[in-house]
Amino acid sequence: MENQKKRILSGIQPTGTFTLGNYVGAVRNWDALQDDYDCIYMIANMHAITVRQTPAELRRKTREAAALLLACGIDPEKSVLFVQSHVRAHAELSWVLSCSTPFGELTRMHQFKEKSAKHPEDINAGLFTYPVLMAADILLYNADLVPVGIDQKQHLELTRNVAQRFNGIYGDTFVVPDAYIPKTGAKIMSLQEPDKKMSKSDTNVNGFVLMLDDADTIVRKFKRAVTDSDGCVRAGDDKPGVTNLMSIYGAFTGKEFAAIEREFEGHGYGDFKLAVAEVVKDKFLPIQQEYRRLLDDKAYIDTVLAQGAQRAEAIANRTVSKVYRKVGFLQL
Ligand code: TYM
Repeated sequence: MENQKKRILSGIQPTGTFTLGNYVGAVRNWDALQDDYDCIYMIANMHAITVRQTPAELRRKTREAAALLLACGIDPEKSVLFVQSHVRAHAELSWVLSCSTPFGELTRMHQFKEKSAKHPEDINAGLFTYPVLMAADILLYNADLVPVGIDQKQHLELTRNVAQRFNGIYGDTFVVPDAYIPKTGAKIMSLQEPDKKMSKSDTNVNGFVLMLDDADTIVRKFKRAVTDSDGCVRAGDDKPGVTNLMSIYGAFTGKEFAAIEREFEGHGYGDFKLAVAEVVKDKFLPIQQEYRRLLDDKAYIDTVLAQGAQRAEAIANRTVSKVYRKVGFLQL
């Protein structure tokens, strides 16, 4: 019988250890969705080279990303886990889709504007067409849902436009996907500048917590987190630092803001920060242990990735054949 579960596709770049933002905004949901959906998870190494990488490091980080995803609970028995460049269909579909994506639509992408401002010496064409590759990633698998943090929302909207436009020109081909953005933690902010997204490329290392930070580092970073002079654990637009810490605490404990406010009534920020560090440590330390165990077994990781690529390829190649036929590529 046909598999009736809805399909999920999502990806993450292997450009370094995942941050707490990656975990809360995306990866923990990837794990949670595995039982109810047909999930396909991808390590986006093709997206990673839009910013210059050291080749040997990119190779190493790709395997490490796989180990960390497995340690976070991605189960290869339930879900497909693969590396983007192992499935050629991504590059193939991306080209076709780029030929029906208006230049103007791509110039509006926030991420392109931000990244080109950050790397003025390397504003390459890949950085510009990045969202088309992302659309290909999603549309290849006819994904219904795409679990991502809020920073990817605009790319998801573009993907929907790309799909609808193609369907309009060539007839029904792609499923038009929906973003799956979590209610809590869709945008974890920097601990140092709480008006900025937490990002591993931040030059201030105290701004982000990495999933592989040791216990002392986690505590130190939370202790140093920027708050305000109000001294009261309460959420509000005027209290971005404290609100961000509350979002993190809420994401790890399942508690709503009101419950967190009650819990820390009469306590100072010192106690609250330690409590946040504690729940984060409790979650990350066992994942770190499992990560190290897995990383010792490279053969296992590579087998998982090879099998994942095979399963992904079977689906993706079918889509590319269909698309090639629709656009009029001669098939022999
Ligand atoms: P990437 O690698 O930047 O981030 C991976 C996921 O983590 C989320 N995220 C956050 N969520 C909350 N708070 C934060 N501070 C935070 N920082 C990152 C991101 O929203 C993302 O969900 N282009 C994508 C990778 C990609 C992809 C795809 C995603 C490639 N193809 C297809 C979905 C579908 C990216 O660079 O994510």
